[in-house]
Amino acid sequence: MSNSKNHDVLIIGSGGAGLSLALKLADHTTHVAVLSKFALTSSSTYYAQGGISAVFDAEDSIESHIDDTLDAGAGLCNPDIVRLTVTHGKKSIEWLRSQGVVFTEEQNNSGEVQLHLNREGGHSHRRVVHSADATGKAVSLSLIERAQEHPNIELLEHHSVIELITAPTADNAADKKVVGAYVLDTQKNQVKTMTARVVVLATGGANMSYIYSTNPHSSTGDGIALAWRAGCRVSNMEFMQFHPTCLYHPEARSFLISEALRGEGGKLVLADGSSFMQHFDPRGELAPRDIVARAIDHEMKKRGIDCVYLDISHKSADFIREHFPTIYQQCLEYDIDITQQPIPVVPAAHYTCGGVLTDSYARTDIKNLYAVGEVACTGLHGANRMASNSLLECLVFAERASEDILLNLPHIKPVNTVPDWDESKVSDSDEEVVVSHNWNELRHFMWDYVGIVRTDKRLSRAMNRVELLKKEIAEYYGNFRVTSDLLELRNLVIVAELIIRCAQQRKESRGLHYTLDYPDLDTSQPPQNTILKP
Ligand code: FAD
Ligand code: SIN
Repeated sequence: MSNSKNHDVLIIGSGGAGLSLALKLADHTTHVAVLSKFALTSSSTYYAQGGISAVFDAEDSIESHIDDTLDAGAGLCNPDIVRLTVTHGKKSIEWLRSQGVVFTEEQNNSGEVQLHLNREGGHSHRRVVHSADATGKAVSLSLIERAQEHPNIELLEHHSVIELITAPTADNAADKKVVGAYVLDTQKNQVKTMTARVVVLATGGANMSYIYSTNPHSSTGDGIALAWRAGCRVSNMEFMQFHPTCLYHPEARSFLISEALRGEGGKLVLADGSSFMQHFDPRGELAPRDIVARAIDHEMKKRGIDCVYLDISHKSADFIREHFPTIYQQCLEYDIDITQQPIPVVPAAHYTCGGVLTDSYARTDIKNLYAVGEVACTGLHGANRMASNSLLECLVFAERASEDILLNLPHIKPVNTVPDWDESKVSDSDEEVVVSHNWNELRHFMWDYVGIVRTDKRLSRAMNRVELLKKEIAEYYGNFRVTSDLLELRNLVIVAELIIRCAQQRKESRGLHYTLDYPDLDTSQPPQNTILKP
């Protein structure tokens, strides 16, 4: 039985990137569908804390934001993309305000109301626009509300994309165009065929490939794996970013302690109260993330300790509660009063700097397939993303993609029929434990062997395990009906392989990729991005 549905634009992902794009397109197109594999709010966007970088301060400048971004990116940012993104900062914030997002304000010395700006690692000025310490929630809820009101947007929760559907292009049979996707409706347990003239990957990052992550469950790198299987190039996957400060508590999973705490003077200390960041970088607590995460990892390994501490208790209790209400409340639930005591913290996988290779309009290698947000590798972040540049990238590239899609859509014919999903040769799984066991195994060996500090030996151990898992998962996928967990595992093993392959190709330490076998920058040749072709 066919259950095919035809759309103008199919956007996979309901985070900042996907929803911004949907809203930018919806006034000009008849039908935009947005898919989310869980609830609409299950996205990294919803959990973003610190804010969105943009130049508002009179003392700040576009050039300074560009320089800081290039510096954090350790020689691998694309300067044109950095300039393009940074120059759209103010406009992006204004667009969000027009969608109803409320940002924290303050009164300046002349009594005028202006945006309050946070400071975070790598930024030489205060330039992070925020909604207290829950910026992502404010952005997410406003965009969802706008999208729900829009007659041209259809929001489909609990719809997980299994595979992209491609066809040869009319002009060249060797080239591919995307024509839709097979999608598992996880509530009805039914596979749907969705055709579309344009498909956009806005699926977020791959940070759940590590056992400790700040991300929600949705970040399993699905978009990267979908694009890779369909034939797109993938770039810079070795640059997985570890956030230095995730709450360390047996009952707390994935709770981030924003870098904005360090921006307001929070100190990293050991259990005896002594600070250590000054031994690693003159910028101390506000050095770029790779440096701070490595310093913490170094102290933990050297001393055999489970965590370090972040102390903001020297600030007044009122200041802390006003600026960091979410963090204050969440820690209090674990009996940690941050106005009185230091917060136990550890690094955790946070952001995927690499991804599906795109151009400045978010176009991928496959015709009519775009990638926007964390799933993409635009060239903005290079070897290390600077704090709060990610939400900015989502907004700027949603705008760029919308311009290109609106220009091209009138020339793209509606899709003819495509074959429906074939379930004739599979049955229900007999041993779900295989999936849960492999999930755990993968995320543990990625943490142990492909984490903050790598070696050739560790990478090759991890690759051996990936090979075994790939075989087992392919066999399982071939024999049993798909489930959400199986789809994610199948994607995770691909992104794990891509991370390891990129890491193995880089014979130097640069930005987020640090290996004991090549601890220095390779200055004998110009910096190279790692590009993998399927
Ligand atoms: P996401 O927001 O992750 O959305 C991905 C969407 O894709 C989800 O709706 C998901 O369900 C859907 N999806 C995935 N796979 C499938 C599939 N197979 N089928 C259907 N749907 C699918 N960045 C900043 O700039 N500033 C910050 O302050 C900041 N703080 C952060 C704090 C935390 C705790 C975290 C985790 C990240 C933070 N980041 C921050 C990073 C930033 O939030 C993310 O990079 C950004 O929100 C990514 O947006 P996105 O739209 O690309 O992806
Ligand atoms: C944070 O608030 O520390 C996260 C900021 C980011 O990831 O950009």
